[in-house]
Amino acid sequence: MAIAGIVAGGSGMRMGGELPKQFMELCGKPVIIRTIEAFLSSDQIRFVIVGINPDWSDYMQKLKEKYRLENVYITPGGADRNDTLMNIINYASDQLSVDEDEIILTHDAVRPFVTEKMIGDSIRAMEQYKIATAVIPATDTIIVSENGSTASSFPPRSTMYQVQTPQSFRIGSFREVYSGVSEEEKKNITDACKLFHIKGFETGLVEGDRKNIKLTYPSDIITAKAICMEEKI
Ligand code: CTP
Repeated sequence: MAIAGIVAGGSGMRMGGELPKQFMELCGKPVIIRTIEAFLSSDQIRFVIVGINPDWSDYMQKLKEKYRLENVYITPGGADRNDTLMNIINYASDQLSVDEDEIILTHDAVRPFVTEKMIGDSIRAMEQYKIATAVIPATDTIIVSENGSTASSFPPRSTMYQVQTPQSFRIGSFREVYSGVSEEEKKNITDACKLFHIKGFETGLVEGDRKNIKLTYPSDIITAKAICMEEKI
């Protein structure tokens, strides 16, 4: 069993539009509701905590009532993604008395197509690792450029993976790792796996899914609509 922490504190600048992308309607339902329901429908998830930009808390509260969501808690998001995660974890401990050993599956609000398999695999990975993340093998060749105008190295594609979410860990271990990094490091590290990595912990890889897309640019909405139609959801 585990809890889910859904990070929804961003403003979706790259997507644009009137509402932050997590609140956009996707085939008749807000993206964030699809994401929350995907976790609530799993019998391995006890409850969901959502980190929301405080300007949008009331909006989220109304959605929660409209869709009659139970076992969902709302807490303010932070200045960046990791801050939002830390707020979720503090809420879990302080308001819900969650044990430090509890597994949390952290997930982007804007990945509505997370599957039961990914949820189960992410929980099981905690038998072996302090942190695990869903990934998919990279399809494009990736090159590294240090200066943005010429290529500096050509890593073999077979060793390249794209990082998705869920990312899983125990709440106490995130607190430990996050409190041990400097403010400078925090600014440069947007991914929880990298935080654990610099503290010397191995990241376990869980099989993600090509359909588990992150809605980032307007063109992603076209893909998401096609997935909804194919899956009849
Ligand atoms: N996120 C968050 N708190 C922040 C910033 C981001 O919880 N302060 C969340 C977003 O809401 C999203 C996830 O992290 O669910 C992935 O981030 P991204 O796709 O970069 O979202 P935005 O920051 O909203 O997008 P943009 O960078 O285009 O503004």
